[in-house]
Amino acid sequence: METVVSGIRSTGKLHLGNYFGAVKNFVKMQHDNNCYFFIADYHSLTTHPKPEDLQRNVRQVLVEYLAAGIDPEVSTLYIQSDLPEVAELYLLLNMNAYVGELERSTSFKDKIREQKDNVNAGLLTYPVLMAADIIIHKAHKVPVGKDQEQHLEMTRTFSNRFNRMYEVEFFPEPVAYNFGESLIKIPGLDGSMKMGKSESGNNAIYLSDSPEIISKKVMRAVTDAGPTEMNQKMPQEIENLFVIMKSVSSNDMVEHFQNLYNRCEIRYGDFKKQLAEDVIKFTEPLREKILELSADDTYLKKVVKMGAEKARESGRKTVSEVREIIGFNPR
Ligand code: TRP
Repeated sequence: METVVSGIRSTGKLHLGNYFGAVKNFVKMQHDNNCYFFIADYHSLTTHPKPEDLQRNVRQVLVEYLAAGIDPEVSTLYIQSDLPEVAELYLLLNMNAYVGELERSTSFKDKIREQKDNVNAGLLTYPVLMAADIIIHKAHKVPVGKDQEQHLEMTRTFSNRFNRMYEVEFFPEPVAYNFGESLIKIPGLDGSMKMGKSESGNNAIYLSDSPEIISKKVMRAVTDAGPTEMNQKMPQEIENLFVIMKSVSSNDMVEHFQNLYNRCEIRYGDFKKQLAEDVIKFTEPLREKILELSADDTYLKKVVKMGAEKARESGRKTVSEVREIIGFNPR
């Protein structure tokens, strides 16, 4: 069985885009792979969150991944900072990561533009910590989006460099986990191509949104003035709503509204009302599960403890071996 590692940003509730783009596939994948999913709370410190916000966010992310179907008995689901060995591996890898290559990373360049007043060393070495996250479990595969491909490339560089430097075949070269056809890209409600990309807040439907909020967001989704010619090509914002509908509604329903569009008979009010209804129906079990888990502190504590234990068993072993390879005493 192959080992898969995925880090989850600790900020941000799950929206439909995350659900269809990643989490749904994680849930499937966990049965055929040795999966480690962790909430990247060390990484989140690059933005200096308040302790209470940090805690609340981590808890929310944990609840939502569990609600979506990550099984803590099948996968290892843990909080990054519960595996302190990753900090040690990060320190060790930092010695072989060159400032020049870190400065050239696109994410670093973006960050120094976004947070000019807080260009901390954690931002520069973000890819080193990410590499440590991955190779601490000797992962073969990492499910990453386009925006993380460069980080994964850097992980391979650091792994290879370590192996070469110490003349060992210790770390595997992790590659991207390819979901292939099953990957559905959910666009935003504002005409943008990716849900959650814009900061407007109204562009995304969150799994924890109440039915009222979902209705409001969908009814306010951007549309055009309507088709004027039979079978005309849809503008982006309308096509986007159809993509969302395809993910939550029946084929018949989608076809029904496509036909109305093609005949110039569509009424966007009705279309959105149906879409809202189907989104609400689709997300209902998830929303209920989120509420149920949020109220169950005992269970969450148990999950966190179990995850930490499983992650440390794997992490300790790797770091002990790395220490020995480098010339330190093993642990
Ligand atoms: N950088 C990833 C993101 O922004 C999160 C992450 C941290 C991660 N460590 C990782 C992803 C290790 C995969 C593997 O989404």
